[in-house]
Amino acid sequence: MVRKTPLLAVEIAGLQMKNPLILASGILDTYAETMLRIAEHAGAVVTKSVGIEERKGYENPVIFEFKHGVLNAMGLPNPGIEKFGEEMKKLRECRAPIIGSIFGKDEREFVLLARKMEMYGAAAVELNLSCPHASGYGMEVGRDPVLVKSIVSAVKEAVKVPVFVKLTPNVTDIVSLGLAAEEGGADAVVAINTVRGLRIDIEFKRSVLSAGIGGYSGPGILPIGLRCVFELKRALKIPIIGCGGISTWENVIEYLMAGASAVEVGTALREDAGLFKKLERGVKKYMERKGYESVEEVVAIAHRNR
Ligand SMILES: Cc1cc2nc3c(=O)[nH]c(=O)nc-3n(C[C@H](O)[C@H](O)[C@H](O)COP(=O)(O)O)c2cc1C
Repeated sequence: MVRKTPLLAVEIAGLQMKNPLILASGILDTYAETMLRIAEHAGAVVTKSVGIEERKGYENPVIFEFKHGVLNAMGLPNPGIEKFGEEMKKLRECRAPIIGSIFGKDEREFVLLARKMEMYGAAAVELNLSCPHASGYGMEVGRDPVLVKSIVSAVKEAVKVPVFVKLTPNVTDIVSLGLAAEEGGADAVVAINTVRGLRIDIEFKRSVLSAGIGGYSGPGILPIGLRCVFELKRALKIPIIGCGGISTWENVIEYLMAGASAVEVGTALREDAGLFKKLERGVKKYMERKGYESVEEVVAIAHRNR
């Protein structure tokens, strides 16, 4: 049989990807070199979230690894949008689409950042409306459906590239945020960012992180991410990109079945930089074994089989 398109190829809002596996924001994506390496096996790459000004982030410790995942409160360290242009220039040779992640405190900042990312050649922008530990940014803006809708529509008016909106799970109703993003004109939503969490150092009798409360990621949040995607799929018409806790190809299939059209992978890469290759191989073998001819056939299948 001659297949017209490769088995794993997907398209989201016009972005052509060789597979549904995307590098999540914040992991190995501040510098072009690592992004180019990951892009060899990933369908697309999201950059570290970039803001208007350079930020050093919080004092150490900013990251705490434990058995069930990772807790981080980095404080959105980034070189600032002007300087980040240098990395984006080096990414021009990249064959996988580059998605520029941005964070701002209001519409004006998001619009400015999105325009710059588009000018730098980003194939799409991802609005970080969900970072749980930076005062005045991220989740603090992204928990209000009214603000989400107005920021998204302002950015949509300002750029031609697709606009993805990364949602926070730290709300009672993620669907209302998803709907607000959709009403604002978002081309896709990404669910989820990290889950607010805390660990205590019992010797020092204080939080293990300098900033106190942080964001929890890795295998422990897999069921939360899957639940969010499942709920969003029931309500939204636009595509959903699943994220949170993926460390095996089986997890990728779970996300597709819950309703994700693609997935982002972050924390698990810290232990295994070759993970994308393994995920790609595992998903492909499963699809061949089950006789699927496209990723689309798997998307949201769990909604039909209840
Ligand atoms: C160290 C670290 C830094 C992160 N930085 C960002 C960021 O800058 N922007 C963003 O949208 N998400 C950021 N995230 C969240 C991830 O992109 C992802 O949403 C989350 O970690 C859940 O996926 P995972 O369990 O595969 O890591 C960061 C996560 C970690 C662990």
